[in-house]
Amino acid sequence: MKKSDVLIIGSGVAALQLSILLSHDKNVRILTKSHIKNANSYLAQGGIAAAIGIQDDPSKHFADTLEAGRFHNNEDTVREIVNEAPKLIGDLDKQGNIFDKDQLGNLQLGLEGAHSEKRIVHSGGDATGKNVIEYLISKLPESSKVEENVFVYELIMDHKQKRCIGAKAKTEDGTIRYFYGDYVILATGGCGQLYPYTSNAPTVTGDGIAMAYLAGAEIADMEFIQFHPTILYINGETKGLISEAVRGEGATLVTEDGTPIMEGVHPLKDLAPRHIVSKTIFDYIEKGHEVFLDIRSINDFEKRFPSVTAICQNNRVNLSEGRIPVVPGSHFLMGGIKTDVMGCTSINGLFAIGEAACTGLHGANRLASNSLLEGLYQGKKLSQWINSHSKKNLIPDFPRPVPFLQEKSVFLPDVQVLKERMMKRVGIVRSKELLEEQQNWLQQLQVCELTEFDAYSTQDLTAIFMYVSATLITESALTRTESRGGHFRCDFPDEDDENWLKKIIIQKHKGEV
Ligand code: SIN
Repeated sequence: MKKSDVLIIGSGVAALQLSILLSHDKNVRILTKSHIKNANSYLAQGGIAAAIGIQDDPSKHFADTLEAGRFHNNEDTVREIVNEAPKLIGDLDKQGNIFDKDQLGNLQLGLEGAHSEKRIVHSGGDATGKNVIEYLISKLPESSKVEENVFVYELIMDHKQKRCIGAKAKTEDGTIRYFYGDYVILATGGCGQLYPYTSNAPTVTGDGIAMAYLAGAEIADMEFIQFHPTILYINGETKGLISEAVRGEGATLVTEDGTPIMEGVHPLKDLAPRHIVSKTIFDYIEKGHEVFLDIRSINDFEKRFPSVTAICQNNRVNLSEGRIPVVPGSHFLMGGIKTDVMGCTSINGLFAIGEAACTGLHGANRLASNSLLEGLYQGKKLSQWINSHSKKNLIPDFPRPVPFLQEKSVFLPDVQVLKERMMKRVGIVRSKELLEEQQNWLQQLQVCELTEFDAYSTQDLTAIFMYVSATLITESALTRTESRGGHFRCDFPDEDDENWLKKIIIQKHKGEV
């Protein structure tokens, strides 16, 4: 049983930024279910968006974010974050000298889809996430204690105070531990592993979203899933991200006979917003084609993209042939635990930051390289808020761990079945018929009614969280009878501003959708 001032669950960019910016008199505990680096942030290639270029301005970054988000965004949130972006990058670079520079020492700026200017700051070519995370880890103060391989599975609520006061977790040997905090922060990422094709780390299974939902927090915008257009595809399996920055440097999407597929689809062609590029690739694949990134126009490919080169080489793709086989795969969840810009959820004492949160920055489809930015911003903002409050001791009476219950196992189909079904029925193209089929299948499993989580193994708990997250996505996708950003319904193929513009679908356990 442990008490901290700040209890952080997850170890991506938002969690680490928060931790290093909290004042050092705060006792901070970071729990992570795997190794500290095993998170999506570490895998991020492209970079971080900020209006730094001479011709650029935060107002252009704002406009691009809204356009990509199909105007579903919270405009105040977008404005606040894009305005702060140049300072966040400047501060990080001043301290860590992390980002790539030209010969004059100016930050190099890359281009990615749906950006009207070059504004992607990167590190080590395409190793931005890795370098940022390693830098932040190196800066963790002694007041932050990191515990790895601790699987958090339930939030502890003080029902009298109507407040979240901690979390229950299991260690590798199955021991149950209770952790308490005056501030409990979910920084657990999204749920990319719900789909068989994904760029996400194996740990990204919707845990935080499911736990928050089961504890009664509001969940929003779950229908909006971003499928990244270019995930390396070998023998029916996805093997890692091929950064959009590759298209930013001139690569084009072609079929097996070299036909360019984005001509005439969108004025930005291969750099159109991701939902458009992914849907175009999906349509070609459905018609029996294979799709490749043609990289022949890029000079010094290996130097500019060392991480992509390594992924390709590890999977025996011969880059000298100039093409990389790709498919779209789940990449980012725009929805999540509903929060304000800082991370306040609908439950006192509980905060969510990074991809787990739905701040409204991304709207219906995230603009490339806005996610590390959001994590850095929220980590900073929440740290300032917590620092401005004196230490509290809000946990009146520490409940003690109950004696270990007899282990139960859950009857749920293997998660691979869930993944395949999600891709086919709640993937890039959805319809009432497909969504209802999935909804009925999920409903009869009654996963949202399960209780007594102490008794399940961590493997079963992971499956439960995936099934809960899948239920939230399916219900939300069925409710939204239009297409917008990362939610495409072939039975409602257009945006319906009259009925749906800026309408947020909020889900609450045992509440109305
Ligand atoms: C990429 O490098 O293509 C991913 C960047 C992002 O999703 O923001």
